Amino acid sequence: MLSVVLIGAGNVASHLFNAFKKSESIAISQWFNRSLDAITPYKNEVEITDDLTALKEADIYILAVSDDSIADVSDALPFNNRLVAHTSGSVSIHQLSKKLKRGVFYPLQTFTKGAELDFREVPICIECLEKENLQTLKSLSEGLGCKFYKINTEQRQTLHLSAVYVNNFVNQLYRIAHEISDAKNINFDILKPLIMETARKVQEMSPYMAQTGPAKRNDKKTIKRHLKQIENEEHKVIYELLTNSIKKTHGQR
Ligand SMILES: NC(=O)c1ccc[n+]([C@@H]2O[C@H](COP(=O)([O-])OP(=O)(O)OC[C@H]3O[C@@H](n4cnc5c(N)ncnc54)[C@H](OP(=O)(O)O)[C@@H]3O)[C@@H](O)[C@H]2O)c1
Repeated sequence: MLSVVLIGAGNVASHLFNAFKKSESIAISQWFNRSLDAITPYKNEVEITDDLTALKEADIYILAVSDDSIADVSDALPFNNRLVAHTSGSVSIHQLSKKLKRGVFYPLQTFTKGAELDFREVPICIECLEKENLQTLKSLSEGLGCKFYKINTEQRQTLHLSAVYVNNFVNQLYRIAHEISDAKNINFDILKPLIMETARKVQEMSPYMAQTGPAKRNDKKTIKRHLKQIENEEHKVIYELLTNSIKKTHGQR
C-alpha cells in the first residue's frame, strides 16, 4: 500500500481524493487544507487537518495548491527529505523547497469540483530530481489506473501551453458561440454534436487534415457576411485573426 497525504482541497485535490479512495493500492493517510470548511464533509472518510505541524508520515505528499502558493507551502512543511510532488503544469520542480525530495505529479486534464470525470483516462506527467523517487510516482499513477509519462519541467511547461490552446481557448470560443446564438434565441444544444465531432475527429486524423469551413476554402463571400453579422468588436477581431491563421496554414491569401 502506498500512503498519501493530500494537501489542498480545490478542483484537483477533490478529484484526486475520489480517485485515491477508489484505488486498492493507495491509502489516504490524511487530508490537509488551510481552511477546514472544504474538507469537513469528509471527516468520517479520512483524517482531516488544517495544521501543517500535525501532518503524518507518508510515502508521498501531494501538493495540490494554487501555483503561487507552491513554494511557500512547501517551505512551511515541518519535515525534510520526504517526497513532495506538486500538481502544476507550469511551475518548475525547483520551486519546491530544497529540503524535500521534490517531484511533480501533473494530471493533464481540466478539473472542476463536482464535474464528473473518469480519472483513469487522465494522463499523468511525472518528474523527480532523485531517480529513487520515480518508482513511487509511477506506482501512484498505476494505482489510479492512469497512463504516466516521464516529462521534464520544460516539456511540461510546453504541454501546459498547448493545453491552453486546446482547452481554454477552445472553451472561450464555445462561450462566444453561446453568446452569439443566445442573442438570437437559438438553443446552444444544436451545436453540441458538432463540438463532439470536432473533438472526436482529431483522435483519428491530424488537426490540419480535420479543418473545414470558409477560411480553409477561402470563401470570401461567406467570410464577408459573417463579419457583417458579428456585432461585438472583440468577437470580430478574434474571427479575423483565426480566419487569417487558417488561411495561412492552408495556403490561402
Ligand atoms: N484545475 C485544473 O484544471 C488543473 C489541472 C491540472 C493541474 N492543476 C494544478 O493543480 C493545482 C491546484 O489547482 P486547483 O484548480 O485545484 O486550484 P483551486 O481549486 O484554486 O484550489 C487551490 C487550493 O490551494 C489552497 N491554497 C491556496 N493558497 C494557499 C496558501 N497560501 N496556503 C495553503 N493553501 C493554499 C486553497 O485553499 P483554500 O481552500 O483554503 O482556499 C485550495 O485548497 C495548481 O497547481 C494547478 O495549476 C489544475
